[in-house]
Amino acid sequence: MRYSAFVFDAYGTLFDVHAAVRRHAAEIGPDGQLLSEIWRAKQLEYSWTRSLMGAYLDFWKLTEQALDYAFRKVPSADPKFRDRLLDAYWRLDCYPEVPSVLKALKAEGARIAILSNGSPAMLASAVRSAALDRVVDDIFSVDQVGRFKTDPAVYDLVTTAWRLYPAKISFQSSNRWDAAGARHFGYRTVWINRHGQPDEYLDLSPELILPSLDGLVAAS
Ligand code: LAC
Repeated sequence: MRYSAFVFDAYGTLFDVHAAVRRHAAEIGPDGQLLSEIWRAKQLEYSWTRSLMGAYLDFWKLTEQALDYAFRKVPSADPKFRDRLLDAYWRLDCYPEVPSVLKALKAEGARIAILSNGSPAMLASAVRSAALDRVVDDIFSVDQVGRFKTDPAVYDLVTTAWRLYPAKISFQSSNRWDAAGARHFGYRTVWINRHGQPDEYLDLSPELILPSLDGLVAAS
């Protein structure tokens, strides 16, 4: 392999953020998907606005605030499920190919980390519940810098800790805006386009686009 250091975004890339609502789909009713999409969109919006303001709040608080907003926006969904959905967020499913791909990278001698907006406690819990703790060497949370992605200081956490140039690190994200931030910082960037979205941030193109993490080892 040309790369020996791999960094993964967490939510949407390794862990399925829509798994929480899906797990309670029957109780939530027909607008579950809408609720889940608003929840995710607001969680991210809050991260960007707070970074710009310089008013950091940890990602767990933003996740709670975003769900409260989503419930107000989708009145057919009963807010009595709030705590159950929040609880499920600590144990999200990982995508099916994740364990085998990470193990294959590890077998090639690669170093593996997560770099995420998530709080340290959220990330530790997600990694443990998906049984990825043996393959993930390091978990980097934006909490250390008090700003969210796409602030370059976030991407710099890994290069500083690992003492590697950005171009030596392969960064994988399913979030196109995160791939843009990583590319701008200088990482070798792989966009995992899980849902066949149109491309954007065309001046900040990833080196590689894959429909899932399958194929990452062969292309690295
Ligand atoms: C993360 C967000 C982008 O895990 O989902 O950093």
